[in-house]
Amino acid sequence: MARIAVIGGDGIGPEVVGAGVRVLEAAARADSSLELEFERFPWGCEHYLKHGRMMPEDALETLSSFDAIYLGAVGWPSVPDHVSLWGLLLPIRRGFDQYVNLRPVRLLRGVGSPLAGRAQPDLLVVRENTEGEYSDAGGRLHRGTPHEIAVQESVFTRRGVERIVRYAYERARERRGLLTGATKSNGISVTMPFFDEIFREVGEEFPEVEASLMHADALAARLVLDPAAFDVIVGSNLLGDILSEITAAVCGAIGIAPSANLDPTGEHPSLFEPIHGSAPDIAGRGVANPAGAIWAASLMLDHLGHGEAASRVLGALEETLAGGVRTPDLGGDAGTEEVTRAVVRRLLF
Ligand code: NAD
Ligand code: IPM
Repeated sequence: MARIAVIGGDGIGPEVVGAGVRVLEAAARADSSLELEFERFPWGCEHYLKHGRMMPEDALETLSSFDAIYLGAVGWPSVPDHVSLWGLLLPIRRGFDQYVNLRPVRLLRGVGSPLAGRAQPDLLVVRENTEGEYSDAGGRLHRGTPHEIAVQESVFTRRGVERIVRYAYERARERRGLLTGATKSNGISVTMPFFDEIFREVGEEFPEVEASLMHADALAARLVLDPAAFDVIVGSNLLGDILSEITAAVCGAIGIAPSANLDPTGEHPSLFEPIHGSAPDIAGRGVANPAGAIWAASLMLDHLGHGEAASRVLGALEETLAGGVRTPDLGGDAGTEEVTRAVVRRLLF
């Protein structure tokens, strides 16, 4: 029995995660070896407005007893984004040392892409998830004057860079053996050369992997023009975030892409979510694309050791999209409910 903590969060988060839970329940009904138990936690911006906290003080302790965490999205205009994200998602990633943020990208059947007629991408973005540019070290000086300054440190540790880079080399070795390191060492003169140095050092352990470094700006352009040229990309927290959103869009829409926040040691639960946010502009309208959340549910099943069920869920999603049941962001006219029902039906019958 796998116990899953469900945090819908804000905006379309509860809508897409609700869809994902129904799909997981259907996968379990169709497979007697798959036993799942869900517990829901009403944390997010509403919780903040009522209680002054995005989640209770002992939330990590509560979550630590679960096998995995399934999250929708965090953030709503009534609470500043840095308050909501640093009050819920980022403390979970850091507190559980989920240092790998894995974002697979592939063009699903039935999804139109700006790449029509060209080689199709199938790649993995490995993003550092606990340090780098996402640091709380910094401050503001001379507030309220024309000389005001905001300073924020980027923290790159040898341990942090080595472990994410090594993880990426390992994934590349299992795949097509190509690894690209995203850097910006031409402009950022201390942390990025440090990243490059470690990327090359760790590479000596992987002679079978063809590895190269690319400046993130050039890489971003190449990802739009020729994403099929890449296999695994590894980047710092910020660069990995931006590059993975580009690859998602190139594969159709950001509503499709999943994200696994992993503690590869298995000491803490890992967290699975779509890459998109709470989309306040469409929340409550029933049109949110549940594909990213459903794909994330498939990654969670795989992580929990149910590889076959994971493939069935992703297969059912892909057949649904290929069958023309698609939300408006993919050019369709189906709602969240219709897509969810079609995926559930494919799993059950
Ligand atoms: P967003 O991803 O929420 O939305 C960007 C655009 O994509 C919007 O037009 C939205 O309608 C569309 N979109 C996103 N997901 C979609 C889906 N599943 N189906 C159809 N359309 C979809 O990004 P944003 O507007 O920059 O952020 C909104 C809020 O979400 C902010 O508070 C932000 O901080 C937060 N956010 C949270 C996460 C997270 O929890 N992991 C990730 C990104 C943004
Ligand atoms: C994501 C989001 C978050 C991040 C934000 C909302 C803090 O963009 O999950 O990718 O940058 O990690």
